[in-house]
Amino acid sequence: MALKAFHLRASKAHAALSALAQTDGEEHLLDLFQRDPNRVDKFSAELGPIFVDWSKNRITSDVLKQLIELAEEADWRGAVDQFFEGDAINQTESRAVLHMALRANKNDAFQVDGVDVLPSVLQTRKEMLAFADAVRSNPAIKDVINIGIGGSDLGPLMVTKALRNEGKAGPKVHFVSNVDGAHLASTLDNLKPASTLVIVVSKTFTTQETMANAQAAKEWLIDSLGENAIGEHFAAVSTNVEAALNFGVPKSSIFGFDDWVGGRYSLWGPVGLSIACAVGSKSFEALLDGAREMDVHFRTASPEQNIPLISALIGIWYREYLRLPTHVILPYAQDLDRFPAYLQQADMESNGKSIGRDGKRVEHTTGPVVWGEAGTNGQHAFYQLLHQGTDVHPVDVIAVKQPMSNYTAHHQKLLANAVAQAEALMRGRTVDEVRQSMLESGLSLQQVDEIAPHRVFDGNRPSTFFLLDQLDAKSLGMLIAIYEHRIFIQGLIWNVCSFDQWGVELGKVLANQVLKELTSESSQVPHDESTQGLIDRLKN
Ligand code: F6P
Repeated sequence: MALKAFHLRASKAHAALSALAQTDGEEHLLDLFQRDPNRVDKFSAELGPIFVDWSKNRITSDVLKQLIELAEEADWRGAVDQFFEGDAINQTESRAVLHMALRANKNDAFQVDGVDVLPSVLQTRKEMLAFADAVRSNPAIKDVINIGIGGSDLGPLMVTKALRNEGKAGPKVHFVSNVDGAHLASTLDNLKPASTLVIVVSKTFTTQETMANAQAAKEWLIDSLGENAIGEHFAAVSTNVEAALNFGVPKSSIFGFDDWVGGRYSLWGPVGLSIACAVGSKSFEALLDGAREMDVHFRTASPEQNIPLISALIGIWYREYLRLPTHVILPYAQDLDRFPAYLQQADMESNGKSIGRDGKRVEHTTGPVVWGEAGTNGQHAFYQLLHQGTDVHPVDVIAVKQPMSNYTAHHQKLLANAVAQAEALMRGRTVDEVRQSMLESGLSLQQVDEIAPHRVFDGNRPSTFFLLDQLDAKSLGMLIAIYEHRIFIQGLIWNVCSFDQWGVELGKVLANQVLKELTSESSQVPHDESTQGLIDRLKN
């Protein structure tokens, strides 16, 4: 059964939240802290290695109460049960959405259409991890290339980078996604076919970019090692096993999965083969364990302590009630530098929609623009706008207590910056403070008058602080699952179909048409003047 339609603006909580937006939503965070020194106790949660501090968000107890009411009106618990019980909640494709089954252990129960899916999930996991460990212990394989795009690239790439410290003993894992030949060429330039394993990852095994790169990599390999080498140097991951076989990959090196795994939620299963090659089976299993722990938390924690739920609700508060257009992800960990990119697909491909589950256009806002960059690099690029721009952008700061390198003094600086930025965003700096410090530094009154307004910070810019004890596989699994479930709750309340992605279709169809025109004489379809002009220029 699909998830019920939910009409946010017709809910009781909506009226209360709209009113609160004019009162509590307008208060300065500093005033909120002054009024209630126990904000951190009230607005924080801890689960194993993750501490989450929501206290620097523009919320009050009343706001949170109404946000939880909103979730109750949307029957979030019923929806979560449907989700975990394998209902066809991907309604436009009539599919279950069960990536949680990929990280289950043998005592869990996951069914699709009354069939227990765990035996095949566990068997495939065993086979892919055995394959990965064999690759890792094969001295002849020095490099692995993951060829895939979107969910078949971003998750595996992000995790492989994040767990750099756990993967030092294995082969070097490279990722090629773009159909710009420069991506493949710059990767192959440094590799030798005889010591390379290529993993073609594509749920559909039809994606233009991936198939072009896979074909070119195959030719590169055959040119140097001959046709027979494909068997030993290629593996494939797909729901379309037939197509992978036709491509020439031997059955024993093809890892299949089911259509109830969405591309952007797929890193937990065979799509994570390159992760397993990079970090080994033990770390991969720890990643799954972490995510599974978050699944259990999501299903059982009280609303006030439920990390994915509260994160989701605060996001809805900002987008719908305070009208804040974006959500910024700032990992203070260089190893997490692909986390914002990964989350862009997970979030924006899921909730960047405007048609409701009832087939009608929604009246309210839906998913924000998700963006970000690793700190401190972002500080020297776009934080100016975060601190003084005309829009307010809520941020998630993700910091890690334990250093990720032996440069421990660096780490203190990194953490100091993470904490200080969240504080600065909230605190701001008043004109009086600015004037006083300028006068103290010896500037003239005229200089102070001229410059002071430019140096004022309004503050009151919200942040959530995620503090991880260490960046290991388990904590990372937990962190990713927080965001996955946050997306689920937001999609539920925004009444969108979070698990399809029809909005990527049109561009693909038109690209195929334009490609025909670029590579042949005749014009196939009429275009507007601008598009035709560009095609003509490219052809000449
Ligand atoms: O174009 C979007 C998309 O369909 C994503 O949802 C998906 O992750 C990506 O393309 C790659 O698809 P595939 O794994 O089938 O190659």
